[in-house]
Amino acid sequence: MTEERSPSEVHTIAKTGRSLVIRPAVEADAPGIIAHLQRVAEEGLLGVASFRNPEEEAGFIRSADSDHYLYLVVMDGGLVVGNIIASRGNTPTMNHLVGLAMALDPPYRGQRIGSRLLELALAWAKEAGAEKAILSVLVANLPAQALYRKFGFQVEGVRLQQYRKLRGEGYDDEILMGKFL
Ligand SMILES: CC(C)(COP(=O)(O)OP(=O)(O)OC[C@H]1O[C@@H](n2cnc3c(N)ncnc32)[C@H](O)[C@@H]1OP(=O)(O)O)[C@@H](O)C(=O)NCCC(=O)NCCS
Repeated sequence: MTEERSPSEVHTIAKTGRSLVIRPAVEADAPGIIAHLQRVAEEGLLGVASFRNPEEEAGFIRSADSDHYLYLVVMDGGLVVGNIIASRGNTPTMNHLVGLAMALDPPYRGQRIGSRLLELALAWAKEAGAEKAILSVLVANLPAQALYRKFGFQVEGVRLQQYRKLRGEGYDDEILMGKFL
């Protein structure tokens, strides 16, 4: 992956040779973001996937102030193929925390794009003065756990049967992970 940066955009070249842009989400991205998250949720890899509709997502983006949120999308031309949301706690007891959630469409995995998104989000969190990053990941999602471990996240707990499976019978257990910044 080669890369060029401007203040608000990161340009990278994927393994396929496609030119990708990582940039802050705007309201007009909402339908593409929901479609992207639905594609990944169908794989059974997301517990806390956004189940907002495009209008709700646009409202969320509109109201997500930059002191508390970093919302990045990965664009392949006009298509949203990845995203990361970093959300700073907004109560006096939780404003030392930043929660993270991210996803890439299958053809864009394994090319260090997830690592780049995580680096950008952790740098933002640190700059914003947060002290700890937290996230959750399904027990069955070994690639994501490997990524987070590589970045120094540690397992802090497991919640059993936290999510009903989107397709088929049964539940998924969830691992809680954290990293002090
Ligand atoms: C998890 C996810 C974001 C990782 O992004 P990615 O761009 O594929 O990951 P990277 O290429 O940056 O890989 C970083 C590290 O993660 C680990 N990793 C990535 N893919 C892996 C795989 N298939 N198997 C095992 N480890 C893997 C490796 O340690 C890798 O480091 P390396 O490149 O030095 O070997 C991506 O796979 C994804 O979107 N998955 C579906 C949605 C999801 O799981 N979201 C997270 C929910 S908590």
